[in-house]
Amino acid sequence: MKAFQLPPSPKTGILGGHFFEFRRNTLSFLLKNAREFGDVFYFRIGPQRAFFLNHPDYIKDVLMTYQSSFMKGRALQRSKRLLGEGLLTSEGEFHRRQRRLAQPAFHRQRIAGYANVMSDYAERHIANWEDGKELDLAQEMMSLTLNIVAKTLFNANVDDETKDVREALTTILEMFNLLLFPFSEILEKLPLPQSRRFNKSKAKLDSIIYRIVEERRKSGEDAGDLLSMLIFATDTEGDGKGMTDEQLRDEAMTIFLAGHETTANALTWTFYLLSQNEEVEKKLHEELDGVLPDGKLPTMEDVPKLKYTEKVFAESMRLYPPAWALGRLVIKDVEIGGYHIPKDSLVLMSQYVIHRDPRYYEDPERFNPERWTTDPKDTKQFTYFPFGGGARRCIGDQFAWMEGILLLAVIARKWKLRHVPEHKVETQPLFTLRPKYGMKMIVNKR
Ligand code: HEM
Repeated sequence: MKAFQLPPSPKTGILGGHFFEFRRNTLSFLLKNAREFGDVFYFRIGPQRAFFLNHPDYIKDVLMTYQSSFMKGRALQRSKRLLGEGLLTSEGEFHRRQRRLAQPAFHRQRIAGYANVMSDYAERHIANWEDGKELDLAQEMMSLTLNIVAKTLFNANVDDETKDVREALTTILEMFNLLLFPFSEILEKLPLPQSRRFNKSKAKLDSIIYRIVEERRKSGEDAGDLLSMLIFATDTEGDGKGMTDEQLRDEAMTIFLAGHETTANALTWTFYLLSQNEEVEKKLHEELDGVLPDGKLPTMEDVPKLKYTEKVFAESMRLYPPAWALGRLVIKDVEIGGYHIPKDSLVLMSQYVIHRDPRYYEDPERFNPERWTTDPKDTKQFTYFPFGGGARRCIGDQFAWMEGILLLAVIARKWKLRHVPEHKVETQPLFTLRPKYGMKMIVNKR
């Protein structure tokens, strides 16, 4: 071990830290320094040291080998304000129990039942598009995936309430991204109109969730949705009990949030990349026309046949991973990459940076679905990790692959999307990797 020797670090700014550069230009700051310093470097965020780990083995060390030396970083700690002790934010034994209870809801057979919801909703959504019209695809995808997650989580009984749920959730999400900003702890305590709106929307959504839970508990019926699975799950390996109403509320809110913005961004970037790569788009159309002749809507059975579609989606998440970085707080001193990383430091790992590393990808900036000669879902090495890894790996990964492939198929089969050339495209790494100015596109009938 390079005993207590620090890894290299970029030069500090005027105030003796890296915070402003990191904040202003996060992705290029990380890319530039990773290329310059290699596998480990550190930088300062206020009084804290953040160690950036840029090697698949070190990422595996954090997410798997030494996972008990870490807990979630500040962004997710702050998210507890909205998500409570849900899967994304909880820790330790409590998290393990929740994960055991929630896992069956995400089993392959269970989520297979949602394939038709996904295809139907996508088909209905695009029925409103007009040939030659310009739209903001980022918004379109956000509203489509939100409707899908609302339906699969709560089933049809809440169709009437979907509008209420959506409005409340939209307000919450606007505020949610603010929660992650520095000094948000202080902002949050001020009687700002945003805070009031946030609290009102949160209370509304809570009351809807609690009411549905109560109705389901009374009827004892499995409504076929994710929530029913969570309500009736019991911890057979532990105390034999199920989740309390509060836990159900936290998990429902977590699934709402984690389950739509990520997929929406992945699809938005995919259509942008397709509009810039006509050859790829042509091949995609050929596959879709072959697998889905005569306007057939894709079903679960078609998913394994849509191999090229899957590669397109995988390659898009390589270049624009919706979860662009993972952060952890060190709770026990640990050694990684030969460096001693002390308690209370931060570690940061970035899918965006690793996925563009020329050591692992030839011509990494090129959108080239053909590079996927092995199954992208099987990647055990941390050179491709859009869904994280280890005990905290995304529980909705299969749901997301299925949704991504089906929505891509339903939309691309009928529409060709063209990016509006004067519209600026820039990444905005917030909670997920968004297009900063939305994504203006013209939709043309195929
Ligand atoms: C393309 C879409 C998606 C991407 C890229 C994605 C990515 C991720 C990543 C990277 C994590 C790990 C975070 C960490 O380690 O700090 C995660 C966790 C999680 N995701 Fe996803 N996700 C996606 C879709 C979904 C969907 C559709 C759902 C639910 C329907 C979902 C639910 C969750 C939950 C509950 C967790 C927390 C799991 C735990 O800690 O036990 N995600 N996701």
